[in-house]
Amino acid sequence: MAYDIALIPGDGIGQEVVAAARPVLDAAAADAGFSLDYERFDWGSERYLDEGSMMPDDGIDRLRGRDAILLGAVGHPDIPDHVTLRGLMLPIRKRFNQQVCERPAVLYDGVESPLRGYGGGDIDLVVFRENTEGEYADVGGREHRGFDHEVAIQSAVFTRQGTEDVVRAAFEAATERGGKLTNVTKSNAQAYGMVLWDDVVAEVGEEYPDVEVERLLVDAASMDFVRRPDEFDVVVASNLFGDILTDLGAIVTGSMGLAPSANVNVEGDYPSMFEPVHGSAPDIVGQGVANPLATVLSGAMLFDHLGEGVAGERLESAVADQLADADAPRTPDLGVDAGTEAVVDDLRGRL
Ligand code: NAI
Ligand code: MG
Repeated sequence: MAYDIALIPGDGIGQEVVAAARPVLDAAAADAGFSLDYERFDWGSERYLDEGSMMPDDGIDRLRGRDAILLGAVGHPDIPDHVTLRGLMLPIRKRFNQQVCERPAVLYDGVESPLRGYGGGDIDLVVFRENTEGEYADVGGREHRGFDHEVAIQSAVFTRQGTEDVVRAAFEAATERGGKLTNVTKSNAQAYGMVLWDDVVAEVGEEYPDVEVERLLVDAASMDFVRRPDEFDVVVASNLFGDILTDLGAIVTGSMGLAPSANVNVEGDYPSMFEPVHGSAPDIVGQGVANPLATVLSGAMLFDHLGEGVAGERLESAVADQLADADAPRTPDLGVDAGTEAVVDDLRGRL
């Protein structure tokens, strides 16, 4: 069996982590009796600087029909972030209706949390982030540019369908995991979209009577991601809140360099996209020290999605095994000064 994978390394360390992770994914796939046929797309900021756009006009069509997309990161210090993000990543999420973004945060054995008193296995949560609308909807505008009375309007969009899709995915996960779901909103202050959201959680929740639902406002949830991260299991949140909470989840479990994500088209009509949570990290680019494990773990989620769960589990346990080994190479974000290559070489040995 061969799967058709679109590879978009993108910018900065995105290039480095995708190049490093690829042979690891190939080795795990070969072990499990399948292979990955990649087509690589050199889209991103370099293309923008040369040709004026992050991807070609028919970019979305060229990705259509693939089994999955593996993306590195986008973002360049010389280009405004809203240009890079809206030129490549957001269009893929939206045009392929990748309405559910799943982001696990696990404190692995052998990894130090910046929080006192937490050890391996103590934190194991997953955030379901609404991924195609909410606060990231492309609705708004700027008027009277340059005048004192210049105005910007940015509207959030909450649809019943979009909300229900992510909420249902979260309830399904809660059923398979610990039976607990935390619903994060700010419905005291945002009384339209977020109250619709709460209504949908209540309605869908009736179909899942065994799942206990906890409600938190996002400010309190931010505090509790630091104060009691061990008590979260499945968390569901809007696009913006989910984005913020998952950086918090990544750092309390040790590093941005360990956090994977899946952008899932639930119906399976379009390809889903897998990518590390982190960005292009211009502060460390070119040094050969980017942690490739977030991308490897994103590959494990990609394997699960393809129905190759055994290979996914093997990948994840090789990562867990490496992190638990005090003598194994680690990148500086995990406190040791090994390089990206040393980490993936060691990982291939463990596979
Ligand atoms: P960032 O995630 O790129 O970096 C934040 C910090 O984490 C930096 O100190 C960086 O060195 C460190 N870090 C991130 N990934 C790492 C890894 N694999 N190994 C070791 N250390 C790692 O976020 P930042 O600095 O806010 O954004 C940089 C650029 O990336 C911006 O242009 C931004 O728009 C873009 N960005 C893109 C994302 C994406 O493509 N999904 C997500 C977040 C930011
Ligand atoms: Mg983010």
